[in-house]
Amino acid sequence: MIVAIDGPSGTGKSSTSKAVAAKLGLSYLDTGAQYRAITWWMISNGIDVDDAEAVADAAGKPVIVSGTDPARPTITVDGVDASGPIRTEEVTSRVSAVSAVPEVRALITELQRTIARSAEGGIVVEGRDIGTTVLPDADLKIFLTASPEARAARRSGELKGADVAATRQALIKRDAADSSRKTSPLAKAGDAVEVDTTELTLDQVIECVVTLVEEKR
Ligand code: C5P
Repeated sequence: MIVAIDGPSGTGKSSTSKAVAAKLGLSYLDTGAQYRAITWWMISNGIDVDDAEAVADAAGKPVIVSGTDPARPTITVDGVDASGPIRTEEVTSRVSAVSAVPEVRALITELQRTIARSAEGGIVVEGRDIGTTVLPDADLKIFLTASPEARAARRSGELKGADVAATRQALIKRDAADSSRKTSPLAKAGDAVEVDTTELTLDQVIECVVTLVEEKR
């Protein structure tokens, strides 16, 4: 059972995907964390993330390893725990530039396919292009949406007191970059089920996705 969950930031993708995987005994992969990890490595190694050629040349250097336990997802870069540093504002504001580089996408996509193929018992994979590009044969594809206001409010809550208006602007900017890039942009697969989470609580979204998975089993 392979479940692909895509959508823009702040729609509850990570919380939903982790909870659904835990409830149904499936593995879990956060693909955004992998793009964040490679971005963090680029910044830490003095590579100009706006120089696509430099990013492409360095893309194969870091070794990124994702743990797939939904109760304790982990990510390491060259053996170092990167789960804290990949969530900084600096990484968040630069990840779209790095993830738009085709060489980066090719490497990370291959890594994602290998992890999904080897997950015994099935996996929930969350991201932006999972249903369209990474795993087009997924058993179930979900596309989560929510109004920009709801997404900004959720993200500000997560970032504890961050300015909602500034968060909304940053979200819109990142989604626009992710949706307009040439290589596998953020998009809903033709056969994905769209769930608008604007008026739903997290528990309701989880319940809805669990039901959809159970119908497929
Ligand atoms: O999901 P998260 O917000 O952590 O993703 C961070 C960034 O990683 C996205 O804004 C996007 O640029 C990139 N990403 C991507 N493809 C995916 C998952 C994430 O390009 N499948």
